Amino acid sequence: MNNQSLPQSDADPAADALVIFTPSGKRGRVPTGTSVLDAARLLDVDLDSVCGGRGICSKCQVTPSFGEFSKHGVHARENALSEWNAVEARYHEKRGLAQGRRLGCQACILGDMVIDVPATSQVHKQVVRKAASQRAVTMDPATRLVLIDVAEPDMHEPSGDYERLATALDEQWQIGPVTAPLSVLRKLQPALRRGKWQVTVAVNIADTPARVIDIWPGYHEGPLWGLAIDLGSTTIAAHLCDLKTGQVATSAGVMNPQIRFGEDLMSRVSYAMMNADGAQAMTAAVLDALNTLATEICAEAEVAPRDVVEAVFVCNPVMHHLLLGIDPVELGQAPFALATSGAVTLSATELGLTAVNPAAQTYLLPCIAGHVGADAAAVALSEAPDKSDELVLIVDVGTNAEILLGNRDRVLACSSPTGPAFEGAQISSGQRAAPGAIERVEINPVTKEPRFRVIGCELWSDDPGFAEATAATGITGICGSGIIEAVAEMRMAGLLDASGLIGGPEQTGTPRSIAEGRTYSYVLQDDRPAGGSLIAVTQGDIRAIQLAKSALYAGARLLMDEMGVDTVDRVTLAGAFGAHISPKHAMVLGMIPDAPLDKVTSAGNAAGTGARMALCSRAARAEIEQTVSNITKVETAIEPRFQEHFVAANAIPHATAPFAHLRSVVPLPQPGFNAGGGGQPGTRRRRRRG
Ligand code: FES
Repeated sequence: MNNQSLPQSDADPAADALVIFTPSGKRGRVPTGTSVLDAARLLDVDLDSVCGGRGICSKCQVTPSFGEFSKHGVHARENALSEWNAVEARYHEKRGLAQGRRLGCQACILGDMVIDVPATSQVHKQVVRKAASQRAVTMDPATRLVLIDVAEPDMHEPSGDYERLATALDEQWQIGPVTAPLSVLRKLQPALRRGKWQVTVAVNIADTPARVIDIWPGYHEGPLWGLAIDLGSTTIAAHLCDLKTGQVATSAGVMNPQIRFGEDLMSRVSYAMMNADGAQAMTAAVLDALNTLATEICAEAEVAPRDVVEAVFVCNPVMHHLLLGIDPVELGQAPFALATSGAVTLSATELGLTAVNPAAQTYLLPCIAGHVGADAAAVALSEAPDKSDELVLIVDVGTNAEILLGNRDRVLACSSPTGPAFEGAQISSGQRAAPGAIERVEINPVTKEPRFRVIGCELWSDDPGFAEATAATGITGICGSGIIEAVAEMRMAGLLDASGLIGGPEQTGTPRSIAEGRTYSYVLQDDRPAGGSLIAVTQGDIRAIQLAKSALYAGARLLMDEMGVDTVDRVTLAGAFGAHISPKHAMVLGMIPDAPLDKVTSAGNAAGTGARMALCSRAARAEIEQTVSNITKVETAIEPRFQEHFVAANAIPHATAPFAHLRSVVPLPQPGFNAGGGGQPGTRRRRRRG
């Protein structure tokens, strides 16, 4: 029998064909004559469609395979699929169909078949998000495009255009009930008439009722975009993501302008307490920065703001409240009550995010507790400690560090006020991570000579051509990862003792130790003779880093106490610059508890990754809302042991913890610059102790 030339209606409806879809492996029998798209729906195969089988969108493309498939027990004949029809021919003529591809809504199954669904035709495609853990996000965005035919108005059955649109969504896509904001209603009638009663709508199906976000006459190709925003105390990072593929088109960041009201969280809470309009002023400042950032990121990616239909935010509780215009005063005092700890969904207009589609939906991840925010929730989503067999410590380094400790059995969380030193602030030569900033440092333990690398140049400072390569940017300062490496290298080279004192030139044997008042600094680069600047690590810098790292360690140690352990199996460093922190240097500094070095890894910006996951997947939102409810919160601010741990952690790497793993691989000389041996007079040393 040659069915190839038979029109669809001639196919024997009683006969069944075996169809196997790859790569899912889903298989089943369908009546011959069934379109591939319908077969996919019958067998619950993930095959995309925006136009609902009208032959317009081409999202349903498939690749049929013919021949003998012994693995599947199928022989697929050439005539097992209907011939190209007029719709496919027209589509091919206009826009081109790749060799071997068919439109699933047009091609009909006439015999046993093996059909491949390419990744581009899958709605719920998996996106491998990063190499480190290879965790995949299954695309399942809240907002999608659908093409609908809306009934024309009828004198005899009076109804509104919107009501008929809602009926069409229900009948053609089983989406309903729906609501539509005024911005959509204003466009509705012209769009319906221009599209001759066929329109494409963007509809957000995250909640019930679903919400129409926008409308276009006829078929609208998209794409739709979303913003994943990591709103930190010091910096705001935004990623513009394609809601179909999950790919990031552009990322950008700005400083959080709230810094002018206070560098750390508590000073911003105080500002809100002390000033009648303080909270409103900070809300206005951050919204202004967010709108500027959204505008710039869209311009850079050449994306129309109208096409940005979703935004997901992760932030600590104070940023969370200030973003929402909620006075954060309760977060400044025990019992640190949040106005709401659950996930928050609201429209961009209501939030005040004006640089995107006015009907765009925004989603804030849930907060874990009054001091542990949606950013920690995003880290938990990204790093999934609750799915780990090993006991993993996750440290999200930032102005306010978020710390998680856990495994499949239990997850604990706390935050710790590290201050902005790790981000290069409060450091004499500190600066943001930008071209020209020193980001890597090595110090020769014999000669005590440093070499370094700056952002924007692959060469080390002692490589030929370094001066020329950095001529444009100059060497402008030290960024967060640079200061961590510099201090740790100074410790390993014997320039710095365990208490954190920098030795003088006679003690250390290098003229790079220079006196500065009653203390010493270590010179990394002195360009003053050429009209440049002096870049040095001062005693004050060391103290700032000691305070920050002690807070971080004490928080981690508190969670370990709560868990009843003295060691962890694995440490993950996260944070905006987490990817740039060298595990070895972090451990020499004593930022994190001792662990085998190969068990300390960087996860990059885990909070930002968590935001992207929540943007791309409704399932991820449901997952984190559930996970957060199971996380045990530990409050550092009222825990007396925090202070004990903090004091012991002031030494580099630590006053009492042995750090055996670290000492087995890294030399840690034991100079004592506090106990005589040259340098400045003893008065300096005694005062140091004070
Ligand atoms: S479903 Fe749109 S072209 Fe096939």
